[in-house]
Amino acid sequence: MRKSVALFLAVLLALSLGGCGKKEEAPNQGKDELLLGFAQLGSESGWRIGNTKSVTEAAEAAGIRLMYNNANQSQEKQIKAIRSYIAYRVDVIAFSPIVEEGWDNVLREAREAGIPVIIEDRYIKTEDETLYAAHIGSDFYREGVMAGEYLLRKLSTLPADKTLNVVELEGTIDSTPMLQRRAGFRDTVRDEPRIHLLDSICGDFMISKGKECVKTMLEQYGSGIDVLFSHNDCMMYGALEAIREYGLTPGKDVIIISVDGEQQAIDLLKEGQVNCVVECTPKLGDEIMRVAKDLAAGKEVQREVYSHESSFTEFDDLAGLAPRGY
Ligand code: AHR
Repeated sequence: MRKSVALFLAVLLALSLGGCGKKEEAPNQGKDELLLGFAQLGSESGWRIGNTKSVTEAAEAAGIRLMYNNANQSQEKQIKAIRSYIAYRVDVIAFSPIVEEGWDNVLREAREAGIPVIIEDRYIKTEDETLYAAHIGSDFYREGVMAGEYLLRKLSTLPADKTLNVVELEGTIDSTPMLQRRAGFRDTVRDEPRIHLLDSICGDFMISKGKECVKTMLEQYGSGIDVLFSHNDCMMYGALEAIREYGLTPGKDVIIISVDGEQQAIDLLKEGQVNCVVECTPKLGDEIMRVAKDLAAGKEVQREVYSHESSFTEFDDLAGLAPRGY
């Protein structure tokens, strides 16, 4: 506890110095352990909480000192946290960008201070690739493709004259998983004339908004909805509540497809309330620590590290599936 108060005071001091010191004057200078500043975007989902846990546990296991900030879904707060890490002269910065645009200025400041940056989970959009050293995360486009592939397989089991009306619950607008899952899904089902995209609403990756959005769509389309594609598990949990309250049975009256692979979603899949869960692992901590150590040691690192992911569907035998851990 006393250690974190000291760390907090040191950050304040560094901030008040305005970040004008040289790298040699770093507060962490002379300490053997590596100091990593991690700017998390929020705690909107079980996935996100699992991601924070993975990073904090991995830092501890790797002997890396972690400065952590939760921006509560605010890009402004995330930028402020990154600036505080620059002022404190951490060795490496890692952050999960809430949206893709708007990071160039703060990342230029990090580069000028000589601090390497790891982008974790989501991506940034920039013209200047030298603003970050590595990206560690998922192939969100592939996740959308896997969701679409499941739906094509499901369609092949239905009568030849059956058409499917799909509604989509999108994640945070302009975030990478929202843009890429949407694109991957659409590209995969586009040429199938029996699949129609009825509507698409942003549920911001949250349970409450997922419920609200699906309630609105049910009021509009009623039992005309055949399929729900949710960009994450949390919004799907809310959607299931809305579907049940409307008097329909999820997994049967409405085909449910979700992304993340939280334990709760897998349990719902096993119960038949969900039909397909695409995996997106939040367990990025060990990889971040490995790359952070290499960067601090001045080594070359692989620029793009993708997680290995698959999908779980009603067609699979899930009996032997290991506990998900998130
Ligand atoms: O960026 C990963 C996404 O963010 C996860 O799918 C979602 O649950 C989280 O909030």
